[in-house]
Amino acid sequence: MRGKAATTLLERPAGEVRIFEDLDDLSRAAASLFVELANEAVRDHGAFRVALSGGSTPKKLYSLLARPEFSTRIPWHAVQLFWGDERCVPPDDPESNYGMAHDVLLQRIAIPATNVHRIRGEMDPGQAAAEYEALLRESFGAGPNRVPRFDLVLLGLGGDGHTASLFPGTSALEETKRLVVAVYVEKLNAHRISLTLPVIDHSAAVVFLVSGEDKRSIVAQVLAGSGDRAELPAQRVRSLDDKVVWFLDRPAAADVSRV
Ligand code: 6PG
Repeated sequence: MRGKAATTLLERPAGEVRIFEDLDDLSRAAASLFVELANEAVRDHGAFRVALSGGSTPKKLYSLLARPEFSTRIPWHAVQLFWGDERCVPPDDPESNYGMAHDVLLQRIAIPATNVHRIRGEMDPGQAAAEYEALLRESFGAGPNRVPRFDLVLLGLGGDGHTASLFPGTSALEETKRLVVAVYVEKLNAHRISLTLPVIDHSAAVVFLVSGEDKRSIVAQVLAGSGDRAELPAQRVRSLDDKVVWFLDRPAAADVSRV
């Protein structure tokens, strides 16, 4: 196994920053963290409930988790897989976040089908969001006044500072009660389904995975500040135990000052 890449550790208002040589090293470190958190959660409370992120960055991580060097160390029988957001497309659509995870991970591991909780993007967006919120409440045993607590939420970062499907200037960003919302994203001319900040902020750990030269500017902007009213959605993300960790590769971290 390749040696663990040297990482640079920084602290920022937006959380702890770990910088890796490239996407491969970033993904390997994220896979090791996934194994560690999964075993810790199962030992602690008998389950590991994780929300997977979408887009392209996590594909390498999910592929690694399917490899024996990682998959044999994960108690899949006790892992409950959810998604942080989904495109409003069928599961076999190339745009589907579930579809990507199915291709590179789900069909290669022995996880019970009942442990995989996809957002039904093929449905009417409002119905899909309501159905997913009900599923979350049932899976976590969280009644109307409680917020489910994920053991881990994986997130990506878009060029405009969005994360999950919480885009700048959308009502989804201001949601304080619902766990899951359907949102129409003008710039994409598309509907999305997304977890809301109340759920993300209630999780035990949040890990952002960000890679590539094209993200260097937005990464520097997001890490420069944080806060509940911040304009950039990713700056609003918290975690209950204040455990927000940024996994960046060197190109994405190029404008992050070392101070
Ligand atoms: C999605 C994601 C979204 C993604 C960012 C980064 O459904 O697209 O949830 O928030 O993480 O847009 O996407 P890339 O990894 O493709 O750059």
